[in-house]
Amino acid sequence: MIGIFDSGLGGLTALCELAALLPHEDMIYFGDTGRVPYGSKSEATIVRYSVQDMNFLCGFGIDAALVACGTASSTALPTLREKFDIPVFGVIEAAAREAAATTRSGRVGVLGTSTTVRNGAFERAVKDADMSVEVTSVACPLFVHLVENGFIERGDAVTLAAAERYLAPLRGSGIDTLILGCTHYPIISWAIEAVLPGVRLISSGEAAAKMLASELGHGGGDGKQGKIRFFVSDTPDDFEAAARVFMGSFPIGHAEYVDISKY
Ligand code: DGL
Repeated sequence: MIGIFDSGLGGLTALCELAALLPHEDMIYFGDTGRVPYGSKSEATIVRYSVQDMNFLCGFGIDAALVACGTASSTALPTLREKFDIPVFGVIEAAAREAAATTRSGRVGVLGTSTTVRNGAFERAVKDADMSVEVTSVACPLFVHLVENGFIERGDAVTLAAAERYLAPLRGSGIDTLILGCTHYPIISWAIEAVLPGVRLISSGEAAAKMLASELGHGGGDGKQGKIRFFVSDTPDDFEAAARVFMGSFPIGHAEYVDISKY
C-alpha cells in the first residue's frame, strides 16, 4: 500500500499517474485541505505538518510514501526520511534528472511556491544531475490559489495575466525545459505554454510517480484492482467535484474527514 500526501488536492495529479502505472496497488491519499497552502508557511511549520501527514498515513501500514507536494518535498524530505522507516519519495529528484537529461540549450527553468524557490532544492537537484546546466527559478505564489479557486479554464484572462507577469523573466532566457515544481501547476499548463511556447514542461508529480513505480516495481499483485481511499482535513463535502479538476475522468468517489491535529 502506498501513502500519498499533498497540502491540498494538487497531489491528485501524481496519484492519477501512479494509479495508472500501478493499478493493483492499494493507495491512501491525504490532502491537507484545512491547512493549504503550505508554500507561504515557515519551514518549521511545513516540517511539522508533513510529519503529522506521514504519521496519519503510516497508521494504515503503508510500505512507501510519495510526498506529492513540491513545497513539502523541498522542505521536509530529509526529516521524513530520518523519522520514518519506509521509502519516502519526493517530487524533486525525478523531475530534476529528467530536466537535466532533456535540455539541449543547457538552461532549465523551475516554477514553484515561494518556499520551494527560496530553499533552492530543485536547483540543487538539477545541478547534482548535471553541473553544467544553468537554472532559473521563479516563484508563482498566486498559481495555487488560482487553481484551488477554479480559475483553470483554458483562456481564463486572470490566469493568463498572472502567467504573463510571473514568467516574464523566463522569456528570452534561453530555457528550453521548465520544471513545474508544484503539483498544482499542471492544471494550468495551458497558460504557461501560451507564454513560453515551445518550452518542454516537466510535471514534477508525474516524474516522481514514474520513478516510484519503477523503483518499487510492485506490478502485478494478485490481479485485483487496487483500492484508493481519500482523506481530507477540511470538510469532505464537494470533494468529488473539487477533485475532478485534478483527476479528469479518473473514478473518484467520496473522501473521509480526518482531524490531522491529533497526529
Ligand atoms: N501542491 C503544493 C506544492 O506542490 C501546493 C503548494 C502549497 O500548498 O502552497 O507545492
